[in-house]
Amino acid sequence: MNTHRPLAEIWGIEDYFPAEVLSNTYFEKTLETNDQWIQERTGIRERRRSQAHETPGFMGTEASKKLLAKTGVKAEEIDLILVATITGDYIFPACTSVIQRDLGAVNAFGFDLSAACSGYLYALETARAYVESGLKKRVLVIAAEKMSSILDYQDRQTCILFGDAGSATLVAPARSSESRIIDSILRMDGTGIPCLFMPAGGSVKPPSVETVQNREHFVKQEGRSVFKRAVQDMANVSVEILERNKISPSDVKCFVPHQANIRIIEAARERLGMPIEKVALNIDRYGNTTAATIPTALLDAERKGQVKKGDLVLLASFGAGFTWGSILLRY
Ligand code: UT7
Repeated sequence: MNTHRPLAEIWGIEDYFPAEVLSNTYFEKTLETNDQWIQERTGIRERRRSQAHETPGFMGTEASKKLLAKTGVKAEEIDLILVATITGDYIFPACTSVIQRDLGAVNAFGFDLSAACSGYLYALETARAYVESGLKKRVLVIAAEKMSSILDYQDRQTCILFGDAGSATLVAPARSSESRIIDSILRMDGTGIPCLFMPAGGSVKPPSVETVQNREHFVKQEGRSVFKRAVQDMANVSVEILERNKISPSDVKCFVPHQANIRIIEAARERLGMPIEKVALNIDRYGNTTAATIPTALLDAERKGQVKKGDLVLLASFGAGFTWGSILLRY
């Protein structure tokens, strides 16, 4: 019997961003808002918007193709595809089916995972469990969102916040003890549902003329309540994971928080005592891309030289559900 338990490592990450840039001034034309308010209250300068063909399935496939080329792994070698998204190509089948087909990952099975802004952490943890159990060896974790498909462009409180993006992460057995996923804490509090959700389109309220007229197929958010919980829970869970692993914030090379609002990130960073130079930030250029913020910000940090292989990295998220958590890893 093989008693050796493999560790799981991130072998690589790639991203895909639509070319169309929506700057803050774009919204000034149709809404009572302005660039200064958006930058000061959120830290966002611009975000990307997809064209019709740029679905999460498409963006996830494109990011995966780049990732396979970068890591030298063949599509046939992928044995599991997990897709973190709340804006999948269809209600059913899963977005995973689209990516499995378009990538030609003929030996993979997979499923979608709906955990909103914590989707990447939930999926990474699932990938880790499959790899560490020895059940799967090459797991693609896709985090991709077409938030523009569920945004109400008449609602200034939400439409300015979100953007579209795709990413792919390869999780596989660790090649050395230097890089591995170390620990995770994932949480959920379903009482938060009414604070951030899409009221219609599911089985509670199937689509009807009335739901469309009432604009219920869009993101609804109670910004202030979500803000308070995000600050508190993202900071607490980050402190908790460091404490239980006896790691001081000064040992962490890069902190990668979910990118929803620069003020939430600032508050969490301060609570952790993490200097700003160690924080991965891409909210200014891409806004809140829901499941895709953490992998794209982590890749961005790698490209900037903020993080390299083997460095200690702390990921943290908070989102609809409520869902939140943190993952500690050696990159
Ligand atoms: O990723 C999932 C988790 N989501 C989050 O973490 C988001 C959490 N929430 C937030 O980031 C913030 O609450 C928002 C950015 C959504 C809102 O910022 P805020 O500082 O909490 O603003 P507020 O909701 O307290 O509103 C302050 C004022 C209001 O006007 P009154 O009532 O004071 O007259 C809003 O109507 O700002 C107004 N306002 C705007 N003004 C200009 C709201 N949106 C806008 C806007 N432009 N786009």
